Amino acid sequence: MFGHLTRKMKKILPQYIVGKELWDLGAGKLGHSFALLKAGAASVVAVDKDPGTKKHPLLRTIRGYFDQVAVPEKGIEVAFVSWPSNHHLPGLLALLEVSQVVIYLGSNTDGTSCGWSGLFRHLTRRELLAHVPDKLNSLIICGGQLQRARPPTPEEIAALHGSMMSFDQAREKAEQLVGKLDRREKATKLLTDLCVDHFSEGIKHLGRR
Ligand SMILES: C[S@@+](CC[C@H](N)C(=O)[O-])C[C@H]1O[C@@H](n2cnc3c(N)ncnc32)[C@H](O)[C@@H]1O
Repeated sequence: MFGHLTRKMKKILPQYIVGKELWDLGAGKLGHSFALLKAGAASVVAVDKDPGTKKHPLLRTIRGYFDQVAVPEKGIEVAFVSWPSNHHLPGLLALLEVSQVVIYLGSNTDGTSCGWSGLFRHLTRRELLAHVPDKLNSLIICGGQLQRARPPTPEEIAALHGSMMSFDQAREKAEQLVGKLDRREKATKLLTDLCVDHFSEGIKHLGRR
């Protein structure tokens, strides 16, 4: 398994997954699919172009690329995306668009990158329900879609920044940003410097509160 769920992450996950149908997108060898079932998911749909072959009565496996998967008309209760490839994955965002909750696990600091800018633009335009930063990888749990981007977590800043950051640098930038949220121009300048200026629109509105 690539993604690592820390004790703290395992503690908060159940409130978002117990009794839900979960889609494990890019499920790989199915390690997380099984862990999520063990943690209380009602069932798991595991999607991967090359999925593992282990079986479970509550697990359905779809072999294929994301853009070959029919987007479920009823939507997806919870999507789980752990350590996605660091390039555009056609079809993944269409599945996330119909998901009520999106759980992301990955690392974008210290030489690792999981996901691409489009994925983080999507995540930062969803309500932040929970966030567990960790040097190994961070957990980000997002709810409903927002009209404007919200302030980014350190992991999202690192992912959207033009060049690689350390975990501590990303945390520092996020702290600086929080300190500037009530000073619109400074916050906007910081975001522009970080190459994540698509948040500026959101900041403008935060500044008006
Ligand atoms: C780095 S692995 C992560 C696996 C698992 N989520 C984990 O955390 O251990 C990325 C997975 O995404 C799958 N994948 C990559 N591109 C894909 C695509 N376009 N459609 C479906 N699966 C894809 C790969 O086959 C691989 O299993």
